[in-house]
Amino acid sequence: MADLMVFIHFVALAMGGAASIGLLVVGLTNAKVPPEHRPSVGRVALTLRTVGKTGMALLLLTGIIMATAGGVWGDASPLFWVKLVAVAALIVGIVMGIKAGDQAMKGDPEAAKRAMMIAKINLGLLAVILACAVVAFD
Ligand code: HEM
Repeated sequence: MADLMVFIHFVALAMGGAASIGLLVVGLTNAKVPPEHRPSVGRVALTLRTVGKTGMALLLLTGIIMATAGGVWGDASPLFWVKLVAVAALIVGIVMGIKAGDQAMKGDPEAAKRAMMIAKINLGLLAVILACAVVAFD
C-alpha cells in the first residue's frame, strides 16, 4: 500500500511537471505565431491544465495519506514544512496562472506576459518542492 502511494505520488509529479513545462512551451509558441493562430495553440493549454490539475490533486491526496499513515506530521524534518509552504504557494500560483491564461486567451497581451512570468515562478516553486522532498526524506 505504501509503495502504491509513492508510485502514484511520482506518476502525479510527472503529470504536474509535464503540464508545467508544456504550458510554458504553449506560451512561448503563442508569442511567436500569427495572432489568428493563437486560439488554436491556446486550446492545447486547456488539456495541459487538466493534466496538471489532476496531477496536483493526486499529489495532495497521496501526500496527505503518506504523511498521516507514516506518522510524519509530528516528527517531520523542517524541510518537510518548507515543502508544504512551497506547495501552498504553488497552488496560489496555479490559480493566478489560470486567471492570467484565461485573460490572455481573450487577447490581453499584458495578461499573456503575466501568465508567462507566473509559469516560470511556478516551475521554480516545483524545483524548490522537489529539492525539499528529496532532502527531507533522505
Ligand atoms: C507539488 C506537490 C508535491 C511534490 C512535487 C512532491 C514531491 C515528492 C517527492 C519527489 C518525494 C520523494 C522524495 C524521496 O523519496 O526522496 C515525495 C515524498 C513524499 N511526499 Fe511529496 N510532493 C508534493 C506534495 C506533497 C504533499 C502535499 C504532502 C503531504 C501533505 C507530501 C508528502 C510526502 C511524503 C510523506 C513523502 C515520503 C514518501 C515516502 O518515501 O515514504 N507531498 N514528495
